[in-house]
Amino acid sequence: MERTPIIAANWKMHKTIPEAVSFTREILNPLDFSGTDVVLCPPFPALWPVAQAASGTPLQVAAQDVYWADQGAFTGEVSPVMLRDAGCTYVVIGHSERRHLFGETDENVNRKVKAALRHGLTPIVCVGETLAERDAGETFKVVEKQLAAALLGLDGEEAAGLVVAYEPVWAIGTGRNAAPEDAQAVNHFVREFVRSRYRPEVAEQVRIQYGGSVTPENAELLLAQPDIDGALVGGASLKVESFRAIVYAAQRL
Ligand code: 13P
Repeated sequence: MERTPIIAANWKMHKTIPEAVSFTREILNPLDFSGTDVVLCPPFPALWPVAQAASGTPLQVAAQDVYWADQGAFTGEVSPVMLRDAGCTYVVIGHSERRHLFGETDENVNRKVKAALRHGLTPIVCVGETLAERDAGETFKVVEKQLAAALLGLDGEEAAGLVVAYEPVWAIGTGRNAAPEDAQAVNHFVREFVRSRYRPEVAEQVRIQYGGSVTPENAELLLAQPDIDGALVGGASLKVESFRAIVYAAQRL
């Protein structure tokens, strides 16, 4: 089955509101969306301004995290209701920086995934092993544990709509991307895991990105892999030209 590639720009803690808005205007002028979903993930303060700048275009907006309650005494947190209000349609959940720097647990990732789905936000669920885990031969075990926890309690329809991002921690921000065949092996493993839990159509529908030092130079080979349905791009998404080049690489396939 044909899956629409999804290319997302994870800006992490970069860009002021004016910078985010001018990037958005520039990338749209021009951006060929044919056959591709394109998503910007600005920091919280820039969500609404970016959504406004993108309004009326196919460009979608994602938050980089979410809390699972709708509202309440949770100082510093942002709810899925607020993200919808700010113009988001996607949300990144369980990014390795949140897991490793801020103590995000598998249980919390699952709560966040369910909360996002409850409010019509598409989760981009991140999974991936550290270098020590890879060296210990534990890549598949780690990815399976993170994925099993993230999917807990989801029905087939919910699972089919998810985006999973395989991001090996050792490849993030290091300039050292996973070899296309290694990334393919893990993405394939993710799809087979989904197949083991749900109907085969669910596994065919779920979109699985690769993230970790994706650049215009390596994007085409990575995206050409049969189970790599898109990219979650950090550093190379901060400049309009390099992010646009990655979107176009997805379209050349
Ligand atoms: P880099 O593309 O900078 O390696 O970051 C990847 C990432 O973490 C995207 O979420």
